[in-house]
Amino acid sequence: MSVDNANNESNWNVERDDNGIAWVHFDKPGASANLLSQAAIKELDDIIKDFEKALPRAVVILSDKKDSFIFGADIKEFTALDNKEQALAFMHKGHALMDRLEALTCPTVSMVHGLCFGGGTELSLACDYIIASDDKKTKIGLPEIKLGIHPGYGGTARSIERCGPLAAMNIMLTGRALSARAAKKIKLIDEMVPLRQLKTAAEHYALTTPERKALPFLTRLSNFSLVRPLIASQMRKQVASKAREEHYPAPYSLINLWQKYAGDKKVMLEKEAIAVAELATTDTARNLVRVFFLQEQLKSQGKKIDFEVEHVHVIGGGIMGGDIASWCAIQGHSVTVQDQDPERLAQTMKRAQYSFKKKFKRDRRAIRDANDRLMADHRGAGVYRADIIIEAIFEDAEVKRSLYESIEPKMKPGAILATNTSSIKLEDLSSCLKNPGRLVGLHFFNPVALMPLVEIIRGNETDEKVVQQALAFGKNISKLPLAVKSSPGFLVNRILMPYILEAVTMVDEGIAPEVIDKAALKYGMPMGPIELADTVGLDICKSVANILSTALDMPLPDNLKELSDKKLGKKTGEGFYKYKEGKPIRDKSASYSNPQEVQDRLVLRLLNEATACLREGIVDEQDLIDAGVIFGTGFAPFRGGPLEYIRSTGVDELSQTLDSLKAKFGDRFEKDEGWSKLS
Ligand code: NAI
Repeated sequence: MSVDNANNESNWNVERDDNGIAWVHFDKPGASANLLSQAAIKELDDIIKDFEKALPRAVVILSDKKDSFIFGADIKEFTALDNKEQALAFMHKGHALMDRLEALTCPTVSMVHGLCFGGGTELSLACDYIIASDDKKTKIGLPEIKLGIHPGYGGTARSIERCGPLAAMNIMLTGRALSARAAKKIKLIDEMVPLRQLKTAAEHYALTTPERKALPFLTRLSNFSLVRPLIASQMRKQVASKAREEHYPAPYSLINLWQKYAGDKKVMLEKEAIAVAELATTDTARNLVRVFFLQEQLKSQGKKIDFEVEHVHVIGGGIMGGDIASWCAIQGHSVTVQDQDPERLAQTMKRAQYSFKKKFKRDRRAIRDANDRLMADHRGAGVYRADIIIEAIFEDAEVKRSLYESIEPKMKPGAILATNTSSIKLEDLSSCLKNPGRLVGLHFFNPVALMPLVEIIRGNETDEKVVQQALAFGKNISKLPLAVKSSPGFLVNRILMPYILEAVTMVDEGIAPEVIDKAALKYGMPMGPIELADTVGLDICKSVANILSTALDMPLPDNLKELSDKKLGKKTGEGFYKYKEGKPIRDKSASYSNPQEVQDRLVLRLLNEATACLREGIVDEQDLIDAGVIFGTGFAPFRGGPLEYIRSTGVDELSQTLDSLKAKFGDRFEKDEGWSKLS
C-alpha cells in the first residue's frame, strides 16, 4: 500500500492498495467538514488527470472527516461572483472535473458516510457506483434550491439519469435530505450497508462492477419529449402553490431545463451551467445565501459554552408548554411536564403522541423512546432534578411569581429557570426570587415544532452565564437561539405587531381582508397579516397589542378593541374570515384601487419598527434583526430581511414613501431615528 499527493496543504490524498484500487481521501485541512471549493476541484481534477495517464484498477472516493462526507460547494465562493461570466467560468470548472471523473475507463465508487450534500452528491453521481452507510448520520441531498440556484455541477442530468425524472426532480425541487434508506429506494445510491462493512462493500463494487438494472419502462417514459410538457406543467403548478416565479426563479428554471433539454444529456449539462450562472447572480440567490449565513450565525450563538442538560421540567401543559415538552422529548431529553389541571395534562400527553407520530412517522422504536422520555408529573416531582425548568403557565405576572416562590427552594443549585412569557418584563417576575440571576426568557413561537426561532430574553438581572446556557440549550434542541434585550414585545412580536395593526386598521377603513393579504403575499410573506391574526387568535393578538400599544404608543384599531368570544379567529371558526375545514373562505372578487399603497403601508410599518429596534440595540448585532424577523415570522427570505431590504432598495426611496404615508395617514409613519444607524 502506498500514499501519494499527501502534504499538509492538500485537500486530497491518494492511497493505493494491493488490489490496485486508488482510495482518494478527502480531508480539507484544518476544517471539520469537507467543502468542494474551487481549490479542491482543481486538485481532484489534477489527480484524475494522473489517473488517465496511469489507470488504477478502480477508484474509490471517501472522506476522512468524522460523520461527514462532503458538505457541498463552498458557498462563500459564490458570494464573490460579480457577474454571469464569472459564474459561468466557475461552473465550467466543476463540470470539467465531473465529466473527467465520469469518463474514466476504470470503475469509480463514491463511498458515503455522513452528510453528503450539493457538490458532494454531484461528485458521487459522476461515479459509477454510490455506496452509503446506513448510519443515521448519513444524509444525501441536492439542497441548492434553498440557496436560490439548482444543481450546477452536472447533478440535474445525472440524478435524472439514475433515478428517473420524477424522483430526481422531487429531491431537487424540495432540496430535502434523504436517509440512506430513502436514497436507495429511489435508486440514488446503489447500496447501503452498516458502517463497519462500508469499505468492504466499496471494494466489492470496485472489483466486481455489478451491472445496474435499467430503470422501469414507465419511469423512462416520463422522460420522453412528448410526456415532459405535461409533467412539467404539473410540477409548475405545485411549485407555484409554494413560491412565485418572480420571487424564487430557481425551481422554474430547473423545470424548464428538464422540459427542454432532458432528451440530450450533453446539451442538458451545458444548459445547466448557463442556467445556474444566471441564477447565482440574482438578488434572490444572494439573499438566500445571506439567510444561510444568518442561520449559521444564530447557531453559533449557542456554541459559546457547553450546557449539559439531563432533565427538563416544563410547568404548564397548555398550547405552548405541551408542545415545548414534546419537542424536548423528541430532541432526546428526559422531560417531565406538570400542570395544575389533570385533565389538561392527559390532553397534553395525548397531543404528544400525535407529535411523535408526526415526527417519526412509522419508526415505532423512535416513537416508543420519545414516549419513554416524556412523563406526566402532576405533583411537580421533576422540579428537584431538572437542569432547566421551563415555565409556560398563564400570562399573569402574579400567578407566575407565586409559582416561582414555591419552586425556587426545590430547584437544584445551578439549575436555570426559563419563562416562555410573551409580554411580561423579566424584571417584574424575577423580583420574587432569592437568586434573580437564574431567570431567563425562553420565548418559543407557536407552533413550536414548526417555528425555528427561540428568543432568549436577557433581563437586567439575568446572569450572563445563564443567558449563554439558555442559548446553548436552544441550539441543542435544534432551534435557532437569538439573545434579545428584555423590552416590550422583545424583537419578533414588536416588529410584527405594527404590521398586523396596520392591516387591521385597513379593515376598519373598509379595505377587504383579501386585498390586504394579497398585497402581503405579493411582497413575499408566507401568509397575509389578516389570516395570520386569525390563526394566532384575535384574543392573543389583542393582549400582545395591548401591552405594546401602551409601551410603544401604538393605538389599538377599533376592530380589535371589542372582540366577540365567538369570533376569535380560526379556532372559533370565524374571525376576520369565516373558516371551512380550517381554510378561510375568501371573496375572490374583492378589489381595491391602490394595492401598492396597501403593501407600502404594511411593509413600511414593519421596516420602521425594525429600525427602531436597531436604534435601541434590542439585539447584539444589526444582522441579527434580519435573522430574527426571517426565522421568527417567515419574512420573505429572498429579500434578505427587513434591514437588508432597506439597504438594497435605498434609504432615500423608502424615506420618500414613508413621508408621503405620514402626510396621508399620520404620525405612525414618522421615520424612526434608527434609519440613520443603518450601515
Ligand atoms: P394555555 O392557557 O394554553 O396553557 C397554560 C397552562 O398552564 C394551562 O394548562 C394551565 O392549567 C397551566 N397552569 C396555569 N397555572 C399553573 C400553575 N400554577 N401550575 C401548573 N400549571 C399551571 O397558555 P399558552 O398559550 O400555552 O401560554 C403559556 C405561556 O406561553 C404564556 O406565558 C404565554 O404568554 C406564552 N406564549 C404563548 C404563545 C401562544 O401562541 N399561545 C406564544 C409564545 C408564548
